[in-house]
Amino acid sequence: MTTPMVEATDIHKSFGRVEVLRGIDLTVMPGEVACVIGPSGSGKSTFLRCINHLEHIDAGRMRVNGDLVGYREAGGKLHELRESEVARQRRDIGMVFQRFNLFPHMTAAQNVMEAPCTVRRESRGPARERACAMLERVGLADKYDVHPAQLSGGQQQRVAIARALAMEPRLMLFDEPTSALDPELVGEVLDVMRGLAADGMTMVVVTHEMGFAREVGDTLVFMDEGRIVEAGDPKQVLTDPQHERTKAFLSKVL
Ligand SMILES: Nc1ncnc2c1ncn2[C@@H]1O[C@H](COP(=O)(O)OP(=O)(O)OP(=O)(O)O)[C@@H](O)[C@H]1O
Ligand SMILES: [Mg+2]
Repeated sequence: MTTPMVEATDIHKSFGRVEVLRGIDLTVMPGEVACVIGPSGSGKSTFLRCINHLEHIDAGRMRVNGDLVGYREAGGKLHELRESEVARQRRDIGMVFQRFNLFPHMTAAQNVMEAPCTVRRESRGPARERACAMLERVGLADKYDVHPAQLSGGQQQRVAIARALAMEPRLMLFDEPTSALDPELVGEVLDVMRGLAADGMTMVVVTHEMGFAREVGDTLVFMDEGRIVEAGDPKQVLTDPQHERTKAFLSKVL
């Protein structure tokens, strides 16, 4: 049997008294793309951050490629791992945010090489070569020596994707990667993501791009108030939603 790439079981998470995730179950198999939609505040980003333990969870189990993320289980209890152990787990998980957070004083290539050189202590020659390959993969081979300020938002986001890919992740998490972009720049970023999906990358994508979800997603998940209300084949969910809340949400965004 194939091990799921992501296996979230009954994930609960509160901030103070507010329960933001109220029992999330989601399985993403290797090579699958799961898209997550839902109203603001429904817990989408929090759930994504639980996958790589940027948030600790209050209950449930998060497994990536079969391993518990952030915890070790002993005698039925969870013990949080040391930061260095969590960091090792995170190397396999690439994350791309709405804001690109590139280092402004570094060129595109230096941004892409940074983590392989510092985290993996890779020597600069091979790291530079892979940075070149990654920038080519996102269509920016000619921007190798350019600083972020000289790049458009779409190009900066593609560098951010190349930077995540340079660590050779098994899984990529995207949190609204195109929502900070001018409309005319959205397509180039979605094209890169489409390419990654076609190459077999496993991805969890929080997005409002319903066209992308429909074409590229294997699953579409609708979250509301910390729960998954509905999940399934994107075409099915988008054209024939089963729940009133999904219908109401889609009628506002479509
Ligand atoms: N660090 C935090 N401390 C306290 N509350 C938080 C924190 N992070 C998120 N929240 C709250 O948790 C809830 C869910 O937030 P989250 O960012 O996961 O929603 P979202 O679905 O990603 O929304 P959006 O579409 O606006 O990005 C919100 O009510 C938010 O205010
Ligand atoms: Mg969010």
